[in-house]
Amino acid sequence: MFRTIEWLDESNQVRLVDQTKLPLKVEHVVTDSHERIAKSIKIMEIRGAPAIGAAAAMGMALAAIESQARTKDDIISYLEKAADTLNTRPTAYNLTWATSRMLRKAKEVDGTAEDIVNQLIEEAKEIAEEDVRMCRQMGEHALSLIKSGFTIQTICNAGSLATVHLGTVGGVVRVAHEKYSDIKVYAVETRPRMQGARLTVFEFMEDDIDVTLITDGMVGTVFRQGRVDCCVVGADRILRTGHVINKIGTYTMAITAKYHDIPFYVVAPWSTIDMETDPGDVVIEERDEDEIRKVNEQYVTVPTAKVYNPAFDMTHPELISAIITDKGIVKEPTEEKMLKLYKA
Ligand code: MRU
Repeated sequence: MFRTIEWLDESNQVRLVDQTKLPLKVEHVVTDSHERIAKSIKIMEIRGAPAIGAAAAMGMALAAIESQARTKDDIISYLEKAADTLNTRPTAYNLTWATSRMLRKAKEVDGTAEDIVNQLIEEAKEIAEEDVRMCRQMGEHALSLIKSGFTIQTICNAGSLATVHLGTVGGVVRVAHEKYSDIKVYAVETRPRMQGARLTVFEFMEDDIDVTLITDGMVGTVFRQGRVDCCVVGADRILRTGHVINKIGTYTMAITAKYHDIPFYVVAPWSTIDMETDPGDVVIEERDEDEIRKVNEQYVTVPTAKVYNPAFDMTHPELISAIITDKGIVKEPTEEKMLKLYKA
């Protein structure tokens, strides 16, 4: 798979794959504007927690260039406004994690405004490279849980396209597939934005990985029929309590997996783990009602139908067999075990 997002050194621009066009067209957005990056995040041209984190970091580097500031104070005040503009989606932790890290970096640099700009460009590139390394590490850690011949159920897209490259679930599947070529995937289409159908199926087929598409309502049936060995899902935010916030439908899948005694694994890098927020305080993004009323721009219901469209849900730790991170695996997560990993 190609890289989802990259920094173009020759022009100091950012290039990202426009995921709203996939899988029918592979088109890119190329920009030198942090406001354009903010728009890409908002309208989901780029999506997936680690990918929007990397995009926001690059957006902050673009903002530093745009500011044309001559003093450290000026550049920091421009960056603070840019961070507010870039933090357009409330649920994925990686977004504010990345903008905060870039702001912290700017404050740490002891030098001229030009030094700050140069170091922010390097920091944004490093966040992207780190993401690729973490995806491989998660895949390698997960090898202790995945066996030859396994069929893995996933939801949404936590593949290469949801990260800079490789993916979180994508990393687990790809590393396992490198070792055992007989790994298979079941992908749920993931209404209403269809990330499973449009993105997960596309990218696994590109890599010759055996993937089967099912509708969201078929999960219980494929579990009962014994078609799935384990579930592996990504996360937008993981709390210190072990609660996992991920694409809507994850919670239902976790309950159904528990009923059928199927292991339920969550995979995410350290940049997704929020040690501060309490479960009751997580903001779940609610998106436009027309995402549900329309399919391919056509109404499929009464145009004025009342709609509820939360983009994410929260899964309780008791339903999770293990959280796989780049730092290691937490089996049957509890607050105590999460703190132990954090301190380590
Ligand atoms: O609304 P999206 O497409 O940004 O949601 C993405 C997900 O829920 C992914 O499962 C999650 O971000 C993990 S991505 C590695």
